[in-house]
Amino acid sequence: KGEIIKSGNIVLSGFMGSGKTTVGRRLAAALDMQFVDMDLYIEKKTGMTVKEIFAEYGEPHFRALETETVKELAQSNHFVIATGGGTLMQPQNVEGFHQGGGTIYYLDVPLAALQERLKNDKRRPLLQTPDRRAVIERLLNERRPKYLASADVVVDAGAPTVVVVERICALRG
Ligand code: S3P
Repeated sequence: KGEIIKSGNIVLSGFMGSGKTTVGRRLAAALDMQFVDMDLYIEKKTGMTVKEIFAEYGEPHFRALETETVKELAQSNHFVIATGGGTLMQPQNVEGFHQGGGTIYYLDVPLAALQERLKNDKRRPLLQTPDRRAVIERLLNERRPKYLASADVVVDAGAPTVVVVERICALRG
């Protein structure tokens, strides 16, 4: 979908546990670009963890902070940006990144791998429930069509970090 604009931001999309942060850090280092993780950016800005923001102000407030963050980051150039798993569920955020010349790479990881990677997570508010595996399945089924639709590039990402980084570099040409 559209041409890949090399001068713009690289925006990493994908479900929780898909490797956006890990891959993003390595990719930025490999391409000599700046790296920013949206969750960490929001945590720094608010002085609260994402978990605390959800608990104290609720999810809608966190979503508003994400949209504010997209507006700020979309202006930048030559950044690798790791989004949160829910960021690109809001069409205005997809639009924001695209308007800023960003290219969205969706890190596509199979359900079973995500369930395995997330099984001991203590940090993500949406997963602190006893039926975690089922929640992951339901959320992924609901979100995957949107990840695919908003992506400029789909990356097969159920592989070790170095391999995924190489794949993105190759896809970038
Ligand atoms: C969320 C994903 C998290 C974080 C928040 C909500 C989501 O980011 O933004 O817990 O809705 O999928 P990661 O994808 O980095 O875990």
